[in-house]
Amino acid sequence: MVEIIPSINVPTFEKAQARIAKVEPYVSWCHLDVTDGIFSAHPTWRDPRDLTTLKTKLNVEAHLMITDPDTAVSQWLIPSVQRIIAHLESMSNIQCLTFIQKCRDAGKEIGLAINPDTPWTAFEPWFGKADLFLPLGVPPGASGQKPDWDMIVGKIAAIRQACPSCIIEADGGVNQDTAASAVAAGADILVAGSVIFDAPDIAQAIAILQS
Ligand code: DX5
Ligand code: ZN
Repeated sequence: MVEIIPSINVPTFEKAQARIAKVEPYVSWCHLDVTDGIFSAHPTWRDPRDLTTLKTKLNVEAHLMITDPDTAVSQWLIPSVQRIIAHLESMSNIQCLTFIQKCRDAGKEIGLAINPDTPWTAFEPWFGKADLFLPLGVPPGASGQKPDWDMIVGKIAAIRQACPSCIIEADGGVNQDTAASAVAAGADILVAGSVIFDAPDIAQAIAILQS
């Protein structure tokens, strides 16, 4: 069954904690969106030191939508974070190798992401070197943006064909209408924000995405 990971895209750590508590009974992971005001102007909570006080049984993945992930990643290599996802647009090949090595040395899972206007072939050199590939459906920023869904489904299908064993995570624009086509194209994991947190019944919203 496809894994659903709620996207926590909020301006403060208090709000992040509240959202994590809301989804904790229904999922195994949460996805923390982090921006730096440069890679994306949209502001989010961004201080990994707060996570030392986080009490949750969920695994945590940090989606770093920032300009310098190969250096900033060091602050995220902490026990409460299990997977770190960084963008290829913000790293040279050498910097990406550094990012991967730092995550590996710390025993973290590694995700690589691309923006909607980056071709999926940017992932090719990293097949087998990263644990997860995230073709972002919307520009780095807020939850609730509208994706070019045909484009994203095409990217997912192309990645799946080129790398049958890769783990593919869809993020941005996942909802009850789009989830099935992402899975049919080859997505293993669906990250969803607004469709979960705007729903009157969170458990039901997650169950619908899974079905
Ligand atoms: C977008 C973020 C996504 C976003 C998902 O830049 O990386 O994780 O919060 O939210 P929805 O599902 O509402 O598009
Ligand atoms: Zn995200």
